[in-house]
Amino acid sequence: MTHSNNINVCFLFLLFIASTLQTIVVGEPKVPCFFIFGDSLVDNGNNINRNTTTKVNYFPYGIDFPGGPTGRFNNGRNIADIIAELLGFDKYIAPFANATNQDILRGVNYGSGGSGILEETGHLFGDVINFKEQLSNHEVVISRVARLLGSESVAKQHLSRCIYSVGMGNNDYLANYLPQYHSKTTPYTPRQFASLVIAQYSKQLRRLYDAGARKVAVFALGKLGCIPQQLAAYGASDGSSCVETSNNVVKSFNEYLKILIHYLNSNLADAKFVYTQDTSDSESYGNISNLSEPCCGVSAEDGQCVAGSAPCSNRDAYLFWDAFHPTEAASLLSAKIAYDHMSPLFAEPESDAVASY
Ligand SMILES: *[C@@H]1O[C@H](CO)[C@@H](O)[C@H](O)[C@H]1NC(C)=O
Ligand SMILES: *[C@@H]1O[C@H](CO)[C@@H](O)[C@H](O)[C@H]1NC(C)=O
Ligand SMILES: *[C@@H]1O[C@H](CO)[C@@H](O)[C@H](O)[C@H]1NC(C)=O
Ligand SMILES: *[C@@H]1O[C@H](CO)[C@@H](O)[C@H](O)[C@H]1NC(C)=O
Repeated sequence: MTHSNNINVCFLFLLFIASTLQTIVVGEPKVPCFFIFGDSLVDNGNNINRNTTTKVNYFPYGIDFPGGPTGRFNNGRNIADIIAELLGFDKYIAPFANATNQDILRGVNYGSGGSGILEETGHLFGDVINFKEQLSNHEVVISRVARLLGSESVAKQHLSRCIYSVGMGNNDYLANYLPQYHSKTTPYTPRQFASLVIAQYSKQLRRLYDAGARKVAVFALGKLGCIPQQLAAYGASDGSSCVETSNNVVKSFNEYLKILIHYLNSNLADAKFVYTQDTSDSESYGNISNLSEPCCGVSAEDGQCVAGSAPCSNRDAYLFWDAFHPTEAASLLSAKIAYDHMSPLFAEPESDAVASY
């Protein structure tokens, strides 16, 4: 038997062990780590000790979450929590604000309510963590990961196997462009604004890639013209239950985002970016029947639930929790749709998975 045959036998044996382990280890997540960037749709407590008006660590937020209010912007789990569950994690991904060394090897949630892609977005709300700062926080976490794993190259290997989800842009529209657009005080057309925001996003996503991300789900914007805050501010369009001018404005962002994703995939080696939607075109909402009114009583000032007020009791029948945010029931539906879109990031053939070691 030649030396090289020995190596082959040995290699096959390792493969055998690897595949056996894969089948016998139960409860392992589909990927080793999950990093989350975004706004209030994913924030799980990062804002609560900051000087911002965009924080909701008070009842009735969290009424359906074990332990009550945590800073999540609805009644229970948010979309990031549910996607983490679908990926097989047995604990939610920890907020950057207090993630321990043990936590960060499984990923970190950097989400911050009120934040956006443009640096000025969210300034209105005080000290929120915009995408640029979330990336800086990630770079801090990466150096901690490298120290924990003993070297930068092992850390790089680890980080390349994680899934990254990025959902930004809602506030660039809701709190920045749309108010100006509706009052016609903005110098930008919808296409000009979308290209400005996407140009910035492009640089930021590139920075995430440079930090070692290789499997990235980037979320499209939903129909922002259908949320209670928009309806209250501008009124539904004729023949629609939504503000169609706002929906149309947001379409430019999604159009350019698709082009950006294609560009990143063609230009960044070994990277997979996936354009991820969290709503389906069929608009079927299961048992959710109330599609336009918030479940809790909202403050006219900021659209958040009035502190201490009693929310609706049939929360699973509502799409919206407050003037901006979906209920846990709605988040369950959108998480499943998003998870299906994300599947190219973790449903790769076995041979690729082995080869990547
Ligand atoms: C970390 O933050 C979360 C959310 O803000 C909170 O529920 C949890 O108790 C905190 N844990 C520690 C150890 O501070
Ligand atoms: C918090 O922010 C407000 C408004 O931005 C500012 O006036 C106030 O001084 C800040 N408070 C602290 C403790 O930094
Ligand atoms: C709708 O509600 C029924 C009765 O509570 C339940 O059995 C069913 O699973 C629900 N459907 C969805 C899509 O959640
Ligand atoms: C939706 O909820 C609001 C507030 O709770 C209620 O007034 C309204 O009748 C509901 N609409 C539908 C269609 O259920």
